Amino acid sequence: MALLLAIDADPDERASWRALLQAELPDERLLDAPTEDVDIAIVANPPAGALAGLPRLRLIQSLWAGVDRLLADPTVPVDVPLARMVDPAMNEAMAETALWAVLALHRGFFDYAAQQRAGEWRVHAQRRADEVLIAVLGLGQMGRTVALRLAANRYPVWGWSTHDAAVAGVRSTVGEAALPATLAAADIVVNLLPLTRATNGLFGARRLAQMKPGAALVNLARGAHVVDADLVDALDSGWLRHAVLDVFHTEPLPPEHPFWRHPRITLLPHVAAQTDPRSAARVAADNVRAVRAGRAALHLVNRARGY
Ligand code: NAP
Ligand code: GLV
Repeated sequence: MALLLAIDADPDERASWRALLQAELPDERLLDAPTEDVDIAIVANPPAGALAGLPRLRLIQSLWAGVDRLLADPTVPVDVPLARMVDPAMNEAMAETALWAVLALHRGFFDYAAQQRAGEWRVHAQRRADEVLIAVLGLGQMGRTVALRLAANRYPVWGWSTHDAAVAGVRSTVGEAALPATLAAADIVVNLLPLTRATNGLFGARRLAQMKPGAALVNLARGAHVVDADLVDALDSGWLRHAVLDVFHTEPLPPEHPFWRHPRITLLPHVAAQTDPRSAARVAADNVRAVRAGRAALHLVNRARGY
């Protein structure tokens, strides 16, 4: 039996993954190209078709937390268990990014950066953290860590998910019926939902209009959660104050896209929480060892739910 590494990365990064995985799994044969005896695939953003025609495949281990691309690829076998990356190091990185965005929005630091570029000295009123309500959409691995980090920084935090997530210090709101009130209450909305049929295009005109006037959107999940033209309209009209965006429909974001030059948008190149190979190789290897020992892999995706 052998492990297929289907990792879309530059040669140095691929070599680094290979070395870390081989160190974790010294008895395994790691392959860069498919053969008939591949029974486990370790994948990061693989091209469509990379997992087709592997008759012995019994585990797909994603090195990414979000598996929307894999689930959308009709050539990925639907009857093979799919495990996603769940790594506390990623959750911590996400919490850092969310805290940076929230602090910068709350204290007006993006506005001050724009003022510096314009040579303008102007002071804005200063609010306390406990006056800035944050809604975190999605209280899973990332959202829960983010919500706790924001609450520890004295922000009032509401967390929205499909069931009562019981996160200490966070007010839980549940289900679609609670979404309008959650959006309306928040000064800053942080999106950490998975991309599914239910969440695709969530931030279109209707939901953006339910947000509080002057609120800000922080999208750290997937670009397809946002209807780009509707977001631009909401920012241009002044309904929303600012958006911090890490993820986009097309990545890299095309040079002609209006987000690049929009004065109320701050962009990151999909770096809110990068997979850390040092810890992620261990997580992936633990699942390989589990399957070899006849145990179930951890962090399996529920394909019916889409996450
Ligand atoms: P997760 O552990 O699967 O958590 C998903 C959360 O969303 C759960 O709380 C779930 O609620 C909730 N949810 C799902 N569908 C919902 C719906 N229709 N309505 C309300 N709540 C819903 O996911 P995660 O590991 O935190 O990751 C979240 C997303 O972050 C990933 O899918 C990925 O897209 C993104 N991400 C981005 C980066 C980056 O660098 N930008 C890095 C990693 C991940 P229940 O548990 O109640 O069902
Ligand atoms: C990054 O976006 C991931 O899903 O790991």
